[in-house]
Amino acid sequence: MSEIYDVVIIGGGPGGYNCAIRAGQLGLKVACVEMRGTLGGTCLNVGCIPSKALLHASGLYAAAKTDFAGLGIKVGKLELDLTQMMAQKSDAVDGLTKGIEFLFKKNKVEYVKGRGKILGKGRVEVALAAGGTQVLETKNIVIATGSEPATLPGIEIDEERVVSNTGALSLKAVPKKLVLIGAGVIGLEMGSVWARLGSEVTVVEYLERILPPADAEVAKEAERTFKKQGLAFRLGTKVTGIEKTKTKLKVNIEPAKGGASDALDADVVIVAIGRKPYTEGLGLETVGGTTDKRGVVDVIDGHFKVADGVWAVGDCIHGPMLAHKAEDDGTAVAELIAGKAGHVDYNLVPSVVYTNPEIAWVGKNEEELKAAGVEYVKGKFPFMANSRARTNHETAGFVKILAEKGSDRILGAHMIGVGVGEIIAEICVAMEFGAASEDIARTSHAHPTLSEAVRQAAMGVEGWTMQM
Ligand code: FAD
Ligand code: NAI
Repeated sequence: MSEIYDVVIIGGGPGGYNCAIRAGQLGLKVACVEMRGTLGGTCLNVGCIPSKALLHASGLYAAAKTDFAGLGIKVGKLELDLTQMMAQKSDAVDGLTKGIEFLFKKNKVEYVKGRGKILGKGRVEVALAAGGTQVLETKNIVIATGSEPATLPGIEIDEERVVSNTGALSLKAVPKKLVLIGAGVIGLEMGSVWARLGSEVTVVEYLERILPPADAEVAKEAERTFKKQGLAFRLGTKVTGIEKTKTKLKVNIEPAKGGASDALDADVVIVAIGRKPYTEGLGLETVGGTTDKRGVVDVIDGHFKVADGVWAVGDCIHGPMLAHKAEDDGTAVAELIAGKAGHVDYNLVPSVVYTNPEIAWVGKNEEELKAAGVEYVKGKFPFMANSRARTNHETAGFVKILAEKGSDRILGAHMIGVGVGEIIAEICVAMEFGAASEDIARTSHAHPTLSEAVRQAAMGVEGWTMQM
């Protein structure tokens, strides 16, 4: 008779590994099943970490090319070593995935390498990577199987010339002409990387705007800035097919609303039109679990419960498909299983796009507040008027704070500018505590810092912005 676990987690990404570590900390007997061969899921292996490694390195390359001379730094002939850039990316990934294995050992989490399948309540069968199968008996099952790239009908991904977000992180050479399908987060981040390294980038987007979930004013400013950096956008446009010749790709496009067709030449096409939950062959039906039309695992309590003793977290359930959201889900479920309180407020999950300038937001945007009929007051402050941004010659963008009319409670914040991916955390904490804009306006912020722009925007809600 095999031993009985308190919890078996299927999937070792941010949702799964954080659930496992927290469960271990809480003294539960826990196993985490992962089929990839390494821990960390999409995020560490083919998502957040490798993309940020390339954004960082390509950002420095671009700065050396365009900004250093103005700062009084002369460099010799600048050369790109793409092999080394990819190697440092792999180093970052390897170090972090091994770090999770260490945390598993430290917190007594059993790491089972293989593909997990639910056989019914309390039973998970693992097709072991080393061969053979093993059945794990458990009081609780946590589904943390994540997501995979969405595909376009009629467009075949070969991961060489027509690539998903995975292939986009490992191109062997800088494509002369690169077409990205989708002006979402991946489109903008990967478009930035390859444009900085020398590609001529065109982003084809079905909607009439870029970055659909962002505040429209921020998205407009982002579009203007990225155009200046050399990215071309074909908005309101759909891709109808890709023709391949031995050396070239022809991307056929037409207006989303219908009209005359056109074509773009490309060496590489990146398809980045969103991601979909991954539950293939999972055996969800054996516990009465269901998914919606998009494949999102249904929860019966509005949070994480799929069935009695079965939970789900991260990209495969509702809410934003973000690593820190998956982490919070995983932690909350471990705590619920241990009999504690566990809750995640998806309204307070920040979004960050790691381009230059960065884009960050949390809470509701202006369009959402208007649609909901909520009256609000806006405070806005441009980085052009922030002394640190001016000193660094990085003046693009602004901070916008939206507060409820009357109560002054902060409802959302929307930023574009260098470093805003870090600065947004201040607003998250403030909103967690139900702060008013005045609380931020009256809080001392060090000078000269970029975060002073947040304070000035908050002062702007009540009309007493000072630095200009
Ligand atoms: P995943 O990370 O997808 O992990 C699921 C794991 O489950 C996988 O390792 C998979 O192999 C395993 N699995 C699936 N089925 C089984 C099975 N039956 N048996 C065993 N194992 C199984 N988010 C951010 O917050 N910030 C970013 O900067 C960011 N950048 C991104 C960049 C890219 C290019 C991409 C693609 C995504 C990015 N994301 C980012 C999103 C982030 O990666 C995901 O939101 C996050 O990884 C979701 O975590 P998860 O644990 O739910 O799923
Ligand atoms: P996305 O949802 O961010 O953007 C997809 C874009 O493609 C949208 O603008 C959409 O309108 C457009 N689109 C959809 N179908 C299309 C079609 N047929 N033709 C042209 N355009 C089309 O998805 P993306 O960029 O693929 O990223 C997936 C997810 O991964 C993100 O939503 C996010 O959750 C996560 N991610 C997060 C990052 C971060 O936090 N910095 C970085 C990268 C990914």
